[in-house]
Amino acid sequence: MTTLRLCDEQGTELALLTERADIAATLAEQGIDYQYLPTRPLADLSPGAVLECYQDAIAQWQQQGGYQSVDVVSLQPDNPNAAELRKKFLDEHIHAEDEVRFFAAGSGIFYLHLGDRVHALTCTQGDYLSVPAGTRHWFDMGREPYFVAVRLFTNPDGWVAQHTGDKVAANFIAA
Ligand SMILES: [Fe+2]
Repeated sequence: MTTLRLCDEQGTELALLTERADIAATLAEQGIDYQYLPTRPLADLSPGAVLECYQDAIAQWQQQGGYQSVDVVSLQPDNPNAAELRKKFLDEHIHAEDEVRFFAAGSGIFYLHLGDRVHALTCTQGDYLSVPAGTRHWFDMGREPYFVAVRLFTNPDGWVAQHTGDKVAANFIAA
């Protein structure tokens, strides 16, 4: 289930939104583009099948955001590197370009640190999120990660994490 938890920096929940329209409106107020695309039947979850199934939406997002390239990443719970991969995205960081994801399957939590509030968005199947360049954020794929996500880039080479050194993420991550 897609949810948006509004929290203070200590991790205390201040509000919980469960309706996608409310979530989209709340994030839009912060300049963040969140959309929901109803699930489409997929022959399989291979990158080729995912890109073909959603090609019209992807083309539109590319045009809207000026995203030059697209790929698909998949992660399964039995991945031997799951713990290491999870850890890689758990510290607060920023990017020089937008971080754009569409969840064709599975889920993950984006934590957006906006002012003195943390917006924790649990993304599930059909969710599209564009985290603007320079937004402090981190991502938790969970202990048993599972997702198939389309990624859109302005320039994949530019998608390098710059860590902020802020330890705020530690207040949110479950052991
Ligand atoms: Fe990131």
